[in-house]
Amino acid sequence: MAFMMSMTPGIPSSPSPSPSPSSPPLSQPQPPASLPVRTIPGAYGWPLLGPVSDRLDYFWFQGPETFFKKRTEKYKSTVFRTNVPPSFPLFLNVNPNVVAVLDCKSFSYMFDMELVEKKNVLVGDFMPSVKFTGDLRTCAYLDTSEPQHSKIKNFTLDILKRSSKTWVPELTANLSTFWDTIEADVSKDGSASYLIPLQKFIFKFFTKCLVGADPASSPKIAESGYAMLDRWLALQILPTVKIGVLQPLEEIFLHSFAYPSFLVSGDYNKLYQFIEEHGKEVVKRGETDFGLTKEETIHNLLFVLGFNAYGGFSVFLPSLIGTIASDTTGLQAKIVKEVRENAGSTLSFDSVKNLQLVHSVVCEALRFSPPVPLQFARARKDFQLSSHDSIFDIKEGELLCGYQQQVMRDEKVFDEPDTFKPDRFMKNKELLNYLYWSNGPQTGSPSESNKQCAAKDYVTLTAVLLVAYAFQRYDSITGTGTSITALEKAK
Ligand code: HEM
Repeated sequence: MAFMMSMTPGIPSSPSPSPSPSSPPLSQPQPPASLPVRTIPGAYGWPLLGPVSDRLDYFWFQGPETFFKKRTEKYKSTVFRTNVPPSFPLFLNVNPNVVAVLDCKSFSYMFDMELVEKKNVLVGDFMPSVKFTGDLRTCAYLDTSEPQHSKIKNFTLDILKRSSKTWVPELTANLSTFWDTIEADVSKDGSASYLIPLQKFIFKFFTKCLVGADPASSPKIAESGYAMLDRWLALQILPTVKIGVLQPLEEIFLHSFAYPSFLVSGDYNKLYQFIEEHGKEVVKRGETDFGLTKEETIHNLLFVLGFNAYGGFSVFLPSLIGTIASDTTGLQAKIVKEVRENAGSTLSFDSVKNLQLVHSVVCEALRFSPPVPLQFARARKDFQLSSHDSIFDIKEGELLCGYQQQVMRDEKVFDEPDTFKPDRFMKNKELLNYLYWSNGPQTGSPSESNKQCAAKDYVTLTAVLLVAYAFQRYDSITGTGTSITALEKAK
């Protein structure tokens, strides 16, 4: 069996699917003395040439998955030196040199805030201009040593806690509208492209829950708030993601320079004004209860809404829906049975707690296709980092880079890692200790002293509720990650 007990000293070994907020922080991992110390393999190459060659492999000749896999095979190591884009010619102040950490054990060092810092490394050494976020460094770019991080993280955790009362009714009301649209399209055209309706649903749901504002109170925001966020997000992250446009056009136009923020500043200002006007209660709480200025509160709310919540769910939900809707193994019938027998007629956080198969499906979807593929962290000091088979010396200031897609296929932890196993986490809850989509283990707790996703539990529960809602309403759903082609209503 692939799973290794107590594999990572820093991670608790007893599973706790609903950890209490007071769980102890992860302690410092200690490399076991029995492993050999090895020089980190790999190289950064000649100045300019090395980064350019790696950039072309990453975006063009190989793609991120093959890029990391090939180098792992070449160096016979899950820890090695390489370059990740963006780089030369117009990113002269970006240092592309990283130490890749590509197994569950070495990746987990990035959660230890005594060993690493997270200042400005959300998407690597490259940081989109702060002009995209009102000249402020928002929470996700702050290190835990910065006092503002605690204030904003606690503010975010508070918003989530308070909105938990309206979360499920808002979710089901918006899901009802979403599925009505899909049903109408399927009966009219024989299939429904669901990405736009899904994004409208995500935008409306989170704007109401997190900001306490109804997009309907501003026709412009109701109509195109989601598209404004799409454009704002795209311009920030384009230099770092492979899109799949015909090459060399993608290299020339999308990966060679940072896009200026003024292209979306009109949209951003409209969203800012909308929150200022319609989210007064939440904004006031940021100011009075958490000591933030009004501007800090609104810019951070916009970032959490647009980048974290809207961005994260826009990637995750199509992959979850696509996986279930394209299943041919009888999974849907099992989900239908579990949901109808256990979820009750009115969905709530409590009523879905016992949906073990659905929980496992959601976790497996997060393992199989982690929505945020790359994570970065900078060494705060010299330390020794351990992979499954070796120990490596990391120097202060070096940038660690983990590619979740490969880490979550670690065969020493997950049996048949390339197979989607719906009941994987139901059969073995210990594995939750090694599910890292939230920048921390699924058994961990987000807090001011770590950088774990503030909404870790809300994300999984919301996805469980979404699946439960769908299979209360339908006996079967057929489709892909972009469209639904058939719906069979519940009999
Ligand atoms: C599927 C949806 C989501 C995914 C995949 C996701 C993933 C992540 C990841 C990977 C990080 C860590 C980034 C890093 O430092 O490397 C993160 C941070 C964060 N997420 Fe989420 N997230 C999601 C939804 C949400 C939602 C709904 C919220 C709303 C409150 C949220 C709030 C945050 C915040 C505030 C941080 C920064 C934490 C800190 O700086 O300490 N996320 N998220």
